[in-house]
Amino acid sequence: MTGKAWGGVFDQATDRRVEEFTESVSFDRRLYAQDIDGSIAHAQMLAKVGLLTDDECARIVQALGEIRQEIEQGRFRFTSELEDIHMHVERALIDRLGDVGRKLHTGRSRNDQVATDLRLWVRTAIDTIDRRLEDLQRAFVGRCDADFDVILPGYTHLQRAQPVLAPHYWLAYCEKFERDRGRLRDCRRRANVSSLGAAALAGTSLPIDRHDVALRLGFDAVAANSLDVSSDRDFALEFAFDLAMIAEHLSTWAEEWILWSTVEFGFLRLPQAFCTGSSIMPQKVNPDVLELIRGKTARVIGNLQSLLVLIKGLPLAYNRDFQEDKPPLFDSFDTVQASLALAAPLVAGAELNRQAIAARLDQGHLDATTLMEHLIRRGVPQRTAHGIVGRLVRRALDRGVRLADLAIDEFRAECPELNHEVYQVLGVEQAVRAMQSYGSTAPDRVRKEIDRWKERFKGR
Ligand code: ARG
Repeated sequence: MTGKAWGGVFDQATDRRVEEFTESVSFDRRLYAQDIDGSIAHAQMLAKVGLLTDDECARIVQALGEIRQEIEQGRFRFTSELEDIHMHVERALIDRLGDVGRKLHTGRSRNDQVATDLRLWVRTAIDTIDRRLEDLQRAFVGRCDADFDVILPGYTHLQRAQPVLAPHYWLAYCEKFERDRGRLRDCRRRANVSSLGAAALAGTSLPIDRHDVALRLGFDAVAANSLDVSSDRDFALEFAFDLAMIAEHLSTWAEEWILWSTVEFGFLRLPQAFCTGSSIMPQKVNPDVLELIRGKTARVIGNLQSLLVLIKGLPLAYNRDFQEDKPPLFDSFDTVQASLALAAPLVAGAELNRQAIAARLDQGHLDATTLMEHLIRRGVPQRTAHGIVGRLVRRALDRGVRLADLAIDEFRAECPELNHEVYQVLGVEQAVRAMQSYGSTAPDRVRKEIDRWKERFKGR
């Protein structure tokens, strides 16, 4: 039982099937860098408080560096016998240094070690996703000037509602991803707390310095309660939620662009490098990337569900169940990262089909609400104005024309307060220009918003 971290109390060797069933190294080897960084900081702290000599510490740090290299160069041998990444690194250290290596695990346990590794990993993962989100925001902002003159139908219930500027659409997505970034920042604060030194669950009788290790690892704080922190995976679940929310936003965008790129809509041409064809229908150019971004959202949501159920009802403190937290978390990260990496070039490379959009803007009476507001400005109560415009739309529908095509007599028949000025708010261009409220699609407001986003990304 040479490879095991326990053994003293056992008089049977571990069943091979148990080793296979309980191992985590097949997936937690991904934490090797965090594990080694944590061990280096821990060794340096042990030397500082006199639990290791400076020479012992130097040899440990040196050996850990070599082990890192071996792993990175693919020369390191992983085996399920050694269970997890922590045991692998420690065993390799002991193979090199003998008794000096046997001192590293002083004042810590795998329970606080794995929590620390995961916190370090989440911290970096958050920064990666945040950068990807910014790339995507930049791709949307990058389109705004060129698309400024394009008016699109805005929808509610997927029925034509009111006209909006194309950049108003692009910046709507920027806002959603901005909230996602805010959630990540928030999650990072709670993740960036050191669990190291909680030891198994109760702390340790050895004179360790938890604040020193925390500082070395760039943690902002030290967790105040050893029982709490060794059983805390809140930060991992929060991150999984943040990733699920990003996937939700991506799937909304993907769905919208899938619709827009159909012949039926015809608003958008996707870059062909980001589409795939059909093996049987030669004419097809399919939006598979967008469909998969939408589709992969399912597993990201599923992973969050798995994690929520995983920790439900676990008594304090560490339980082996926690080991199951990594596969869903890693998968959510990989999936969202890959989706974001494709979303940015897709956004940048798509082209609005101006003619098709313009040809369709006259349908659907997108200016009806602006007309109603025109009546309100003339003193007609909103409910009454709504009824009048409804009847005017009815007339237009019956004759198959736009509101702007109705004669002034027809307007006055429904509402004597109206005069020729009514034509100044009809048609999508004028309807958009008539907007004024903060946050609306009014062109000067949208212009200010574009400038605000550009300013934000300037020089970065
Ligand atoms: N591999 C475990 C995990 O990922 C860490 C080891 C803790 N094991 C234990 N028997 N206390 O959670």
